[in-house]
Amino acid sequence: MNNDIKKVLLSQEDISKKVAELGAIISTDYKDKNLLLVCILKGSVVFTADIMRSITIPCNIDFMSVSSYGNKTTSSGVVKIVKDLDISLEGLDVLIIEDILDSGKTLSYLKKLLLDRNPASLKICTLLDKKERRNADISSDYTGFDVPDEFIVGYGLDYAEKYRNLPYIGVLDERVYTK
Ligand code: IMP
Ligand code: MG
Repeated sequence: MNNDIKKVLLSQEDISKKVAELGAIISTDYKDKNLLLVCILKGSVVFTADIMRSITIPCNIDFMSVSSYGNKTTSSGVVKIVKDLDISLEGLDVLIIEDILDSGKTLSYLKKLLLDRNPASLKICTLLDKKERRNADISSDYTGFDVPDEFIVGYGLDYAEKYRNLPYIGVLDERVYTK
Protein backbone atom coordinates (compact mmCIF):
# COMPACT_ATOMS: atom_id res chain seq x y z
CA MET A 1 0.00 0.00 0.00
CA ASN A 2 2.73 2.47 0.96
CA ASN A 3 4.14 2.27 -2.58
CA ASP A 4 0.92 3.74 -4.00
CA ILE A 5 1.24 6.88 -1.87
CA LYS A 6 2.88 9.83 -3.61
CA LYS A 7 3.27 11.96 -0.51
CA VAL A 8 2.32 11.81 3.16
CA LEU A 9 0.05 14.76 3.91
CA LEU A 10 -0.70 14.17 7.60
CA SER A 11 1.23 11.83 9.86
CA GLN A 12 -0.27 9.74 12.64
CA GLU A 13 1.12 12.27 15.10
CA ASP A 14 -0.40 15.27 13.24
CA ILE A 15 -3.77 13.54 13.26
CA SER A 16 -3.77 12.45 16.89
CA LYS A 17 -2.80 15.95 18.11
CA LYS A 18 -5.62 17.50 16.12
CA VAL A 19 -8.16 14.90 17.24
CA ALA A 20 -7.28 15.61 20.88
CA GLU A 21 -7.73 19.36 20.29
CA LEU A 22 -11.10 18.91 18.62
CA GLY A 23 -12.27 16.52 21.33
CA ALA A 24 -11.42 19.04 24.04
CA ILE A 25 -13.32 21.85 22.27
CA ILE A 26 -16.36 19.65 21.67
CA SER A 27 -16.35 18.49 25.30
CA THR A 28 -16.54 22.12 26.44
CA ASP A 29 -19.14 23.21 23.88
CA TYR A 30 -21.48 20.29 24.62
CA LYS A 31 -20.99 20.17 28.39
CA ASP A 32 -24.67 20.58 29.30
CA LYS A 33 -26.16 19.10 26.15
CA ASN A 34 -27.38 15.72 24.89
CA LEU A 35 -24.59 14.95 22.46
CA LEU A 36 -25.12 12.37 19.73
CA LEU A 37 -22.23 11.59 17.42
CA VAL A 38 -23.41 10.48 13.99
CA CYS A 39 -20.68 8.55 12.23
CA ILE A 40 -20.99 8.55 8.46
CA LEU A 41 -19.82 5.13 7.32
CA LYS A 42 -17.51 3.95 6.13
CA GLY A 43 -14.99 6.78 5.72
CA SER A 44 -15.51 8.31 9.18
CA VAL A 45 -15.15 5.13 11.17
CA VAL A 46 -11.51 5.68 12.12
CA PHE A 47 -11.98 9.37 12.92
CA THR A 48 -15.09 8.61 14.99
CA ALA A 49 -13.37 5.86 16.94
CA ASP A 50 -10.58 8.27 17.86
CA ILE A 51 -12.55 11.43 18.51
CA MET A 52 -15.16 9.72 20.71
CA ARG A 53 -12.33 8.72 23.03
CA SER A 54 -11.02 12.28 23.20
CA ILE A 55 -14.47 13.54 24.23
CA THR A 56 -14.71 13.61 28.02
CA ILE A 57 -18.46 14.16 28.46
CA PRO A 58 -21.20 11.50 28.07
CA CYS A 59 -22.36 11.00 24.49
CA ASN A 60 -24.35 8.63 22.32
CA ILE A 61 -23.20 7.29 19.01
CA ASP A 62 -25.07 6.09 15.94
CA PHE A 63 -24.18 5.18 12.39
CA MET A 64 -25.43 6.05 8.98
CA SER A 65 -24.16 4.84 5.65
CA VAL A 66 -24.51 6.87 2.47
CA SER A 67 -22.89 6.38 -0.87
CA SER A 68 -22.00 9.14 -3.28
CA TYR A 69 -18.86 8.05 -5.02
CA GLY A 70 -18.81 4.50 -6.35
CA ASN A 71 -15.31 3.73 -7.53
CA LYS A 72 -14.64 7.09 -9.13
CA THR A 73 -12.61 9.96 -7.76
CA THR A 74 -15.17 12.67 -8.52
CA SER A 75 -18.60 13.17 -6.93
CA SER A 76 -21.58 11.66 -8.70
CA GLY A 77 -23.89 14.14 -6.94
CA VAL A 78 -26.23 11.29 -6.10
CA VAL A 79 -26.55 10.44 -2.42
CA LYS A 80 -28.07 7.12 -1.50
CA ILE A 81 -28.94 6.08 2.07
CA VAL A 82 -27.54 2.61 2.47
CA LYS A 83 -28.15 2.38 6.24
CA ASP A 84 -30.23 4.82 8.27
CA LEU A 85 -29.86 5.78 11.95
CA ASP A 86 -31.43 3.51 14.56
CA ILE A 87 -32.48 6.20 17.04
CA SER A 88 -34.79 9.21 16.99
CA LEU A 89 -33.08 12.61 16.94
CA GLU A 90 -35.78 14.43 18.87
CA GLY A 91 -34.18 16.50 21.65
CA LEU A 92 -30.62 15.45 20.81
CA ASP A 93 -27.67 17.70 19.97
CA VAL A 94 -26.45 16.01 16.84
CA LEU A 95 -22.87 16.28 15.68
CA ILE A 96 -22.21 14.71 12.28
CA ILE A 97 -18.72 13.21 12.12
CA GLU A 98 -17.34 13.27 8.57
CA ASP A 99 -14.00 12.30 7.13
CA ILE A 100 -13.85 14.91 4.38
CA LEU A 101 -15.95 17.78 3.09
CA ASP A 102 -15.36 17.94 -0.65
CA SER A 103 -18.04 19.27 -3.04
CA GLY A 104 -20.33 19.39 0.00
CA LYS A 105 -23.16 17.60 -1.79
CA THR A 106 -23.25 14.67 0.62
CA LEU A 107 -23.36 16.82 3.74
CA SER A 108 -25.85 19.37 2.49
CA TYR A 109 -28.21 16.54 1.64
CA LEU A 110 -27.66 14.86 5.00
CA LYS A 111 -28.04 18.07 6.94
CA LYS A 112 -31.47 18.73 5.40
CA LEU A 113 -32.56 15.16 6.00
CA LEU A 114 -31.53 15.14 9.67
CA LEU A 115 -32.90 18.64 10.40
CA ASP A 116 -36.33 17.38 9.36
CA ARG A 117 -36.17 14.96 12.30
CA ASN A 118 -36.24 17.77 14.89
CA PRO A 119 -32.92 17.50 16.70
CA ALA A 120 -32.25 20.12 19.42
CA SER A 121 -29.26 21.20 17.31
CA LEU A 122 -27.22 19.97 14.37
CA LYS A 123 -23.57 20.67 13.65
CA ILE A 124 -20.82 19.22 11.54
CA CYS A 125 -17.35 18.08 12.48
CA THR A 126 -15.06 17.14 9.60
CA LEU A 127 -11.45 16.04 9.85
CA LEU A 128 -10.57 17.35 6.39
CA ASP A 129 -11.89 20.22 4.31
CA LYS A 130 -11.17 20.51 0.56
CA LYS A 131 -12.49 24.08 0.32
CA GLU A 132 -11.45 24.67 -3.30
CA ARG A 133 -13.93 22.07 -4.49
CA ARG A 134 -17.01 23.39 -2.66
CA ASN A 135 -20.07 23.28 -4.83
CA ALA A 136 -22.85 23.48 -2.23
CA ASP A 137 -23.72 26.06 0.41
CA ILE A 138 -22.31 24.28 3.42
CA SER A 139 -19.49 24.70 5.91
CA SER A 140 -18.14 22.78 8.85
CA ASP A 141 -18.45 23.86 12.50
CA TYR A 142 -15.39 21.91 13.65
CA THR A 143 -12.59 21.31 11.13
CA GLY A 144 -9.33 19.42 11.54
CA PHE A 145 -7.29 20.40 8.51
CA ASP A 146 -7.72 22.22 5.20
CA VAL A 147 -6.38 20.01 2.42
CA PRO A 148 -5.44 20.74 -1.22
CA ASP A 149 -7.46 19.53 -4.21
CA GLU A 150 -5.77 16.16 -4.55
CA PHE A 151 -7.15 12.66 -4.12
CA ILE A 152 -6.19 11.46 -0.68
CA VAL A 153 -6.51 8.15 1.14
CA GLY A 154 -5.89 6.61 4.56
CA TYR A 155 -7.30 7.00 8.09
CA GLY A 156 -10.67 5.77 6.82
CA LEU A 157 -10.56 7.37 3.36
CA ASP A 158 -10.60 4.95 0.47
CA TYR A 159 -10.02 4.57 -3.20
CA ALA A 160 -12.23 1.73 -4.50
CA GLU A 161 -12.57 0.50 -0.88
CA LYS A 162 -8.81 0.20 -0.40
CA TYR A 163 -6.32 2.10 1.79
CA ARG A 164 -8.81 2.78 4.63
CA ASN A 165 -6.49 1.02 7.05
CA LEU A 166 -3.45 3.23 6.39
CA PRO A 167 -2.73 4.92 9.73
CA TYR A 168 -1.75 8.24 8.08
CA ILE A 169 -3.28 10.40 5.31
CA GLY A 170 -1.51 10.57 1.96
CA VAL A 171 -1.94 11.63 -1.66
CA LEU A 172 -2.68 8.66 -3.89
CA ASP A 173 -0.34 8.27 -6.86
CA GLU A 174 -2.27 9.05 -10.08
CA ARG A 175 -0.99 5.91 -11.72
CA VAL A 176 -3.25 3.89 -9.39
CA TYR A 177 -6.44 5.36 -10.88
CA THR A 178 -5.38 6.30 -14.40
CA LYS A 179 -4.26 2.87 -15.52
P1 IMP B 1 -18.82 15.44 -1.30
O1 IMP B 1 -20.27 15.11 -1.38
O2 IMP B 1 -18.26 15.78 -2.65
O3 IMP B 1 -18.48 16.51 -0.28
O4 IMP B 1 -18.05 14.09 -0.95
C1 IMP B 1 -17.84 13.64 0.32
C2 IMP B 1 -17.39 12.20 0.33
O5 IMP B 1 -16.60 11.91 -0.81
C3 IMP B 1 -16.51 11.91 1.51
O6 IMP B 1 -17.25 11.51 2.63
C4 IMP B 1 -15.59 10.84 0.98
O7 IMP B 1 -16.15 9.57 1.17
C5 IMP B 1 -15.48 11.11 -0.49
N1 IMP B 1 -14.25 11.85 -0.86
C6 IMP B 1 -14.12 13.13 -1.24
N2 IMP B 1 -12.85 13.47 -1.50
C7 IMP B 1 -12.13 12.35 -1.27
C8 IMP B 1 -10.71 12.04 -1.35
O8 IMP B 1 -9.84 12.88 -1.66
N3 IMP B 1 -10.37 10.77 -1.04
C9 IMP B 1 -11.28 9.81 -0.66
N4 IMP B 1 -12.59 10.05 -0.57
C10 IMP B 1 -13.02 11.31 -0.88
MG1 MG C 1 -15.75 7.30 0.50
